Amino acid sequence: MTKREKAVPINLDPEALGRRAEAMLFKLAAISAEPERLVRLYLTPEYRRAADLVALWMRETGLQVFEDPLGNVRGRAGEGPRLLIGSHIESVVDAGRYDGTLGVVAAILAYDTLARAGAKPAFGIELVAFGDEEASRFPTTLSTSAALAGHFEPNTLALKDAAGVTYAEALRAYGKNPDDVAGVALQPQDAAAYVELHIEQGPVLEAAEQPLGIVTAMVGQTRLSIEVKGEAGHAGTVPMNLRRDALAGAAEMTLAAEKIGEGGMVATVGMIEARPGAVNIIPGSVRFTLDLRAASNEARSKAIAAFRHECEKIAARRKLEVTFALTHEIPTTPCEPRLQDQLAAAIEAVGGKPLRLPSGAGHDGMSMAKLCPIAMLFVRCRGGVSHNPAEYASPADMGLAVAALVRFIEGFKRP
Ligand code: GLV
Ligand code: MN
Ligand code: MN
Repeated sequence: MTKREKAVPINLDPEALGRRAEAMLFKLAAISAEPERLVRLYLTPEYRRAADLVALWMRETGLQVFEDPLGNVRGRAGEGPRLLIGSHIESVVDAGRYDGTLGVVAAILAYDTLARAGAKPAFGIELVAFGDEEASRFPTTLSTSAALAGHFEPNTLALKDAAGVTYAEALRAYGKNPDDVAGVALQPQDAAAYVELHIEQGPVLEAAEQPLGIVTAMVGQTRLSIEVKGEAGHAGTVPMNLRRDALAGAAEMTLAAEKIGEGGMVATVGMIEARPGAVNIIPGSVRFTLDLRAASNEARSKAIAAFRHECEKIAARRKLEVTFALTHEIPTTPCEPRLQDQLAAAIEAVGGKPLRLPSGAGHDGMSMAKLCPIAMLFVRCRGGVSHNPAEYASPADMGLAVAALVRFIEGFKRP
């Protein structure tokens, strides 16, 4: 509970908040590595410009702003265990304007609303703009929130981007010292809760004609990098029955993944690379990725085992070799029930109906759950479209979401 809220609730203007949110999101979306599409990868010059803009916006609200050794932008106010509110500011390749950035902008606008009204929080508040959520630059994900939660995996520093630059080298080029990463961790006694506002990235809220929703849990994920080895050869001379075509084998494995995904989970082969990669050469080796998500951890483990078994059978039949590397694994992460109820009260306070739904997307909250109780507020997005430049949330919905976040902060009680 904020000190001021005990006396008079703050007047809110969701329409104006929505307009401000959209203007800020458009400014961030203009910060891209490419003129024709939004590409803002972690620790790049574009990431620096976005981080600086977010830091400026946070500073303008009166927050004490700093950047930690991973490039997370953080703004603090008040004393005592903190209510952490955040999301990410890096993007996927050819991104929309709202994924991650809406959560950061909404947190800034909510805090700004409270600060302008003279409400001094009776607990600590920390806004966080995270850096590595999308796995778009390095083959890792949620590493900057994992660091805050005290679970940064040291091997991450050796991972390379497409240009061969390691995570540690990228940090140094960004002006950071990889040796300082361990110091980023918050202590559990300092973290009261973590809350994230995000576009839904799916069609449930739109179908229910509800602008806002409360996340019950984020589904678990397993990611594999799969390597298939065959034999490169001349496209014109090697008869079909004597080939060991790694790409044809990987194609069959991709269809096996699709079949597994039919069992109530989702399976995606999102990246595939054939080598040597020429029109007249039978592919000698292929690397591809699998991203498999399921609400049940047990179902996910079983599906991964079944996929590996299928791939081995396909490889044996085609005289190929197949190997698997686990690149990411995170269990299904529930959101804290009492925080869900506090979000429900906040949504009702702005005239909404608190619809509860699971998240198929991963979020920084999955890392933060290792540190403290977490909750998520979803905002309807058009057509459920995300990871796509057509991503859209209306100013009206965003304004209502910011207003609900203000009410949530006003009513916040540590669970
Ligand atoms: C993050 O956007 C994810 O892959 O869920
Ligand atoms: Mn996101
Ligand atoms: Mn995303």
